[in-house]
Amino acid sequence: MPPDQMAWWPLAAAPRRLRRLVVAAFLSTAPSHGCPLHAELARRGAPAAASLALYSRIRAATPPTAYTFSLLLAALASSASGGCTRLAAPVAHAHALKCGALAHPVVTNSLLKLYCALGLLPHARRVFDSGAALDAASWNTMVSGYGKSGDLAAAREVFGRMPGRNLVSWSAMIDALVRAAEFDEALQVFDRMMGEGFKPDVVVLVSVLKACAHLGAVERGRWVHRYMETEGFAGTQRNVMAETALVDMYCKCGCMEEAWRAFDSVRCRDVVLWNSMIGGLAMNGHGEHALELFQRMVGNGFVPNQSTFVAALCACTHSGRLEEGREIFQSMRQHGIEPQREHYGCLADLLGRAGRVEEAETVLLDMPMEPHASQWGALMSSCRMHNDITVGERVGKRLIELEPQHGGRYAVLFNLYAVNGRWEDARAIRQMMVEKGAKKELGFSFME
Ligand SMILES: *[C@@H]1O[C@H](CO)[C@@H](O)[C@H](O)[C@H]1NC(C)=O
Repeated sequence: MPPDQMAWWPLAAAPRRLRRLVVAAFLSTAPSHGCPLHAELARRGAPAAASLALYSRIRAATPPTAYTFSLLLAALASSASGGCTRLAAPVAHAHALKCGALAHPVVTNSLLKLYCALGLLPHARRVFDSGAALDAASWNTMVSGYGKSGDLAAAREVFGRMPGRNLVSWSAMIDALVRAAEFDEALQVFDRMMGEGFKPDVVVLVSVLKACAHLGAVERGRWVHRYMETEGFAGTQRNVMAETALVDMYCKCGCMEEAWRAFDSVRCRDVVLWNSMIGGLAMNGHGEHALELFQRMVGNGFVPNQSTFVAALCACTHSGRLEEGREIFQSMRQHGIEPQREHYGCLADLLGRAGRVEEAETVLLDMPMEPHASQWGALMSSCRMHNDITVGERVGKRLIELEPQHGGRYAVLFNLYAVNGRWEDARAIRQMMVEKGAKKELGFSFME
């Protein structure tokens, strides 16, 4: 698209108020002074409109330079979640083009980062391929942008052609692979990186630990642990990320003692680290310890977040602590956290497994959002476990309604009828399954 056309297309569809704002920002000629405005523009975090206003004042005072554009584009990237930025980005791009600013890699890079932050990868790619000045950072931005947007093939392609890879390039590629769940390949790329003599930083180590956690590759994880110790990666705020990934890796591999030791040795803890350890204990069947740790966390003045409560409720479910679970659920609002679907689901599961299937049903029916089929499914398992035909029949029918193609949904209800001697109903359910054309699935069998 020619630059001028590209400049205005997103505006056509914009609400009039925003349109006026963007146009005014770019056309304003009100006199003002130059340089202090650049400093102001460099302070990130302002909404896009404020950055645009500054840009227009700079422009009124002095012709914008490459420096102006790199600041403007970076400022816009830092407010990429605002709707205004989507409109402003192509306009700023067109201005930068007109002023020849894309002859400077710094400006190109800011522009690429901006488009990537907005998820506009095709826009970024057009700039990347347009003959604008590029450097290593531009290539890295593309790999990382593709990785974050889930386009692994494109990330691989750019990484493969990249001249002169640096640590950030390898890091971006490993991250892209981990995001795409290609954990084996992530570790292979990590090996190649080490083979070429690069020393991993915290970011790379976190990605590698994630891959190890998913693969259950605890030996490799231990190697990373030793590496972190010998290289002195510990104790600083930034490294709590790596330490958390380490705890998480040990938990996912089921090595709870090592997880505990790693957790214990962290000096600057944060809520994410606490969550990893509490969740890890709960998942590995140490519900009681998870709950103790949860109490200790609150006692030590850490503010639990939504994930903390999921972990704590899950711990109650696994250790059958009904009353404590209810209390924890009740306490959420005192901590300023509105229960989400997951929390209601945990509470219902806790009640259901304890045999309070009717209360569990009430929780699912009364929660402010629609429960997922899987949450009804969990309740159905509880109905089977406690052989509650009254609630089980209602829940079973609801599940069939929700997922008429899911053969397993018919099988559980069929079986519940069968064990209670209700053969007529059982046969009707099987008939219904045939009529709806649902597939019988592995792991779900019909009693005969
Ligand atoms: C809560 O903690 C989890 C990690 O356990 C984190 O991923 C999440 O972003 C946190 N949520 C909020 C709202 O801070």
